[in-house]
Amino acid sequence: MQARGKGILPLFAQNPDRAQDFSVRFDGMLLDYSKTHLDIAARDALIALARQRDVEGRRAAMFEGAEINETEGRAVLHTALRNLDGGPVIVGGGDVMPGVRETLMRMGSFAGAVRSGAFKGAGGSITDVVNIGIGGSHLGPEMAVRALSPYHDGPRCHFVSNVDGADITDVLDGLDPKRTLILVASKTFTTIETMTNAATAHAWMASEVADPGAQFAALSSARAKTAEFGIDDSRVFGFEDWVGGRYSIWGPIGLSLMIAIGSERFDAFLRGAETMDSHFRAAPLAQNMPVMLALVGMWHHQACGFATRAVLPYDQRLSQLPSYLQQLEMESNGKGVAMDGRTLSGVSGPVVWGQPGTNGQHAFYQLIHQGTAVIPCEFLVAACGHEESLKHHHQLLLANCLAQSEALMRGRALDTARALMKTAGFSGDECERQARHRVFAGGRPSTTLIYDLLSPRRLGQIIALYEHRVFVEGVILGINSFDQWGVELGKDLARDMVKLLAGDVDKDKDGSTRQLLDFARGHSCT
Ligand code: F6P
Repeated sequence: MQARGKGILPLFAQNPDRAQDFSVRFDGMLLDYSKTHLDIAARDALIALARQRDVEGRRAAMFEGAEINETEGRAVLHTALRNLDGGPVIVGGGDVMPGVRETLMRMGSFAGAVRSGAFKGAGGSITDVVNIGIGGSHLGPEMAVRALSPYHDGPRCHFVSNVDGADITDVLDGLDPKRTLILVASKTFTTIETMTNAATAHAWMASEVADPGAQFAALSSARAKTAEFGIDDSRVFGFEDWVGGRYSIWGPIGLSLMIAIGSERFDAFLRGAETMDSHFRAAPLAQNMPVMLALVGMWHHQACGFATRAVLPYDQRLSQLPSYLQQLEMESNGKGVAMDGRTLSGVSGPVVWGQPGTNGQHAFYQLIHQGTAVIPCEFLVAACGHEESLKHHHQLLLANCLAQSEALMRGRALDTARALMKTAGFSGDECERQARHRVFAGGRPSTTLIYDLLSPRRLGQIIALYEHRVFVEGVILGINSFDQWGVELGKDLARDMVKLLAGDVDKDKDGSTRQLLDFARGHSCT
């Protein structure tokens, strides 16, 4: 709580080099965390905490394939999927890299065939690809496909995730089943939403295509189940249990992205992530971008008690990044029990939310600037846009991003507001009253990640940056960032609830749930 209410601007007066001292640069990216309350002593203490919690040891264990996902008895090796230039990665006595390379090559030749038209649907070359998946089998590909739209030169890609029939209805509406490829993306191939949507897509295709299974591919670890569904093994792209769902964009779950942008650009995406991995493994903690992003996060939610953080990409093509990070961060670090089974003594990871600027400015920034809760803001912006003929748009976008972080830090004092109101013609009590509404407390922290252009390589780096940030925060919190037991109870109860909606007698339900069930059952549509 010590940082609340203190100014940030005076820190720049005390240290003219503050901007450089409180920034990390890596490969053309700049993470500026100087607009926070962190001072040298606090930063040193955070780095000491990271050392004391053995971030370096856990990091080595992760990259070396140790079973750091202790509650599921698994290694955590999504980094192996992008270890294109690295050496062997040993799991259970065997090198996993030959398998990783083979799957990548199979993906490349399938994606190439879909893109070139060599792979055909019943009506000719594929014009549309629909990825059916949810959570980690949806959020990453959807986010990345949208982010890299300037690089698309393959068939159109669409995404279905929600079990709400509205989702698949709207996505399939207007598509030609004879020229559509369905990717069923599910690590387990049991997720009820995905399997329900996959069955609906199959029926949709079967209405016009004699062999609908031939236009399906599966991105899954569960070969027996994909075979049972009727998908030929040649179109099943598997991955191992050491790739967690929310970390799976780098392998088969990224197939829609590969089809959209081609395997060479997908390779650049992987290589970008690989450079971030190398940086994360080698850079000293104080110059380590993921580590410092994590420590700033820890400072805000653990030391300062700020319960949420806003992710604010000034990049419309990163519109899905906040949703993607919600799963990455909150499914990973939203845990109440430490690795050793003890209840966490402090708070777990923060609530993550946000949407792109400048849209958010016209929606929720009022609260960020003048509300009573302090919300650390994490801005992301590219120095350049892809739209050569619309440079003035990009200048405005950049200007707004930089202005917001300055405004949050600088604020507007009562005296300044009074002067403004006097100039506007107010006087006396009314001037005072009007002025008070125009005061900005200032001293509101933010970080800014600025980079040249959102290219495939840059996107790979940015996602890997956040993955490692989550890892570091999880290690410091002492939790397992790689399981997700908290999603199970709701799934179990939903299975029962389906039977109750169908007419089973409800035993043991509370009054509220019974009332809601009765209401729903009272409508002939259920
Ligand atoms: O919601 C829980 C979860 O297991 C996520 O972790 C995962 O990303 C998602 O469901 C989808 O799982 P699957 O890929 O097995 O369908």
